[in-house]
Amino acid sequence: MSNIKFFSGEEFPLEMHKVRIVQKLELLPIEERLECMKKAGNNTFLLNNRDVFMDMLTDSGVNAMSDRQQSAMLVADDSYAGSETFVRLKSKLKEIFGTEYFLPAHQGRACENIISQALVKPGTIVPMNYHFTTTKAHINVNGGIVIETITDEGIKVNSYNQFKGNMDLQKLEEVIENNGSEKIAFVRMEAGTNLIGGQPFSLENIREVNKICKKYNVPLVLDASLLADNLHFIKVREDAYKDKSIREITMEMANQCDIIYFSARKLGFARGGGIITNNEDLYLKMRELVTLYEGFLTYGGMSVREMEALTVGLDETMDENVINQAPQFISYMTEELIKRGVPVVTPAGGLGCHLDAMKFVDHIPQNQYPAGALASALYIASGARGMERGTLSEARDEDGNEPLANMELLRLAMPRRVFTLSQVKYVIDRITWLYENRHLIGGLKFVEEPKTLRFFFGRLEAVSDWQEELVKKFRQDFADSL
Ligand SMILES: Cc1ncc(COP(=O)(O)O)c(C=O)c1O
Repeated sequence: MSNIKFFSGEEFPLEMHKVRIVQKLELLPIEERLECMKKAGNNTFLLNNRDVFMDMLTDSGVNAMSDRQQSAMLVADDSYAGSETFVRLKSKLKEIFGTEYFLPAHQGRACENIISQALVKPGTIVPMNYHFTTTKAHINVNGGIVIETITDEGIKVNSYNQFKGNMDLQKLEEVIENNGSEKIAFVRMEAGTNLIGGQPFSLENIREVNKICKKYNVPLVLDASLLADNLHFIKVREDAYKDKSIREITMEMANQCDIIYFSARKLGFARGGGIITNNEDLYLKMRELVTLYEGFLTYGGMSVREMEALTVGLDETMDENVINQAPQFISYMTEELIKRGVPVVTPAGGLGCHLDAMKFVDHIPQNQYPAGALASALYIASGARGMERGTLSEARDEDGNEPLANMELLRLAMPRRVFTLSQVKYVIDRITWLYENRHLIGGLKFVEEPKTLRFFFGRLEAVSDWQEELVKKFRQDFADSL
């Protein structure tokens, strides 16, 4: 919504697009939702999409494409080598980020595999504002250690800080000084930090991080998967940039970095991934790995149709009226929940609205996975599926101990251009009901726990019959409503 005021004085986001292709949704009765949740081992990743009313699991690969993206897909140049589609995407990346070299990959974690194999050696350290699950896994697999150097404000659930994704510059310098710069594989900045509520960093902060990296001669790697939201927040929250265009902000950010990578499932409304750089040595090092793991250099595991869609999607990302849609919906949902007393992460970030499970279900101990239990309860109550971002998403250490997460969040992602305001109002309504009945929600325990990235395939069960009690209360309050 671009500066639209309403006569009523009410504030709500206005969609700056119209819907021209639709997908029918089903809302199952609550008894069937309970059955589905049990069959899925109380893991929202294991639900079938046909049983889901609002799929708020992620924004990855589920953003709505525009008419321009769809039509671009029809002119894809399908050749193994030297495709014109590759040339178009590479020059779009150069136009937007100013980078000479481009390595396509099938998705974000494939970029992480390549970057980690190229730069991480056993015993080396990767300081970062905050980790992402797949990033950390790739660094660890290559023998590296992740050290988070986020500001203290970043891991507070509630704060007035507008840039909770900022790196703590002093902590960063201490890590480099204490370990020696030769032990630092690279420094990583994540745009729109996923695991702490989609919180942005400021342009000033990444400029300072770059100065430190230059001082110690260590590469700065930007994870730009959630760049769109971060760009929007710089534009609206960072005074020095309020008169700059999104393109100018993007270029200035890119100028700070040695390597930029992204999941195109998030950035650019498409599917795929990519690594861009101006450093020829790094490029050549990583290029060998693309051909080993991904495919030939000019497609890198992506379909050429997706590459065309991405070229257009990147252009659309440079339009403030496109990238402000999701943050405005998220802000609306967050503010409405606050009015109803529901604990949420503040300030509202990008990616999704984040419920604070540590407070929402403060009677559930962390080793019974409060955010996972809330995810299960919300699906049962509403048919909306979110994603646990808390202790369940962490990994056990070598001795089998379970580290407790800094935050227990239920992330309700807002895929870009997908939901209407009435759907968002529906889920706000059901969350409010659940909050009123939160004492009914109980914990979960593992019945199957995979070793790596356990949250994807792990199966859990309720510690008591709390789910049946929740269904009973729903029927009392909503009679025969779906
Ligand atoms: C910040 C960040 N980095 C990397 C990834 C991995 O990307 P992909 O899912 O395309 O492998 C994600 C995915 O959610 C992400 O949010």
